[in-house]
Amino acid sequence: MRDLEETRALAVDDSAALLRRLERDLHDGAQVRLVALALSLDMIKTKLADEVSLDLSTVRRLVDGAHENATEALTELRDLARGIHPPVLDDGLPNALATLTARSTAPIQLTVDVPERPSPAIETIAYFCAAELLTNVIKHSGATRATLSAVRQPDGTLRLRVSDDGQGGAEAGLGSGLTGLLQRVRTVDGTLDIRSPEGGPTIVTVDLPPHA
Ligand SMILES: Nc1ncnc2c1ncn2[C@@H]1O[C@H](COP(=O)(O)OP(=O)(O)OP(=O)(O)O)[C@@H](O)[C@H]1O
Ligand SMILES: [Mg+2]
Repeated sequence: MRDLEETRALAVDDSAALLRRLERDLHDGAQVRLVALALSLDMIKTKLADEVSLDLSTVRRLVDGAHENATEALTELRDLARGIHPPVLDDGLPNALATLTARSTAPIQLTVDVPERPSPAIETIAYFCAAELLTNVIKHSGATRATLSAVRQPDGTLRLRVSDDGQGGAEAGLGSGLTGLLQRVRTVDGTLDIRSPEGGPTIVTVDLPPHA
């Protein structure tokens, strides 16, 4: 019961923080651009209404500015949407994980067996977990070998596992990465298990329900 209360409180905190960030990003980004765009269009309208002393070079300058603001607003919105649902997931989790391992500076052995597509929320959490865990391997482990696997269990659970043969000592609470993952995973009733004795190896297992 206490676990449930805590998880719910974290989920509420998490979504409140996300909403605040979205609000700020929209306010400082796309909204500023769209206000400027509306202003430019308004000035263009005024200029065009005065046919007698129509100064085409000024209108052209205003149109250029308006176009630039529209383009910038689009970029801002696209980047914002990217942070919510990474576009790399458009082609499914297996492809996204393959891209992730291909970009990694260390060799990573990848195993994927996910016959049915999990829900978008689960895919996103799995992807963010894989990204953070692989980053940790590269930053902290000193490993020569690492593996990443995503395998659907007989009961439908999606099991994501990252292991490395490095020095061990991974612990949530020392930084914000693992703690953040723990909170994210708990919002969908998933679990995150860290086995990382001194001297290694490190095995982190994330179990997620197929839908959330
Ligand atoms: N694969 C690993 N091998 C060895 N140590 C690890 C590994 N992963 C994490 N650690 C240790 O656990 C600590 C906590 O990791 P965590 O991801 O929470 O924080 P961080 O990576 O230091 O910072 P952040 O993720 O906030 O940028 C790390 O500082 C590191 O000491
Ligand atoms: Mg980290």
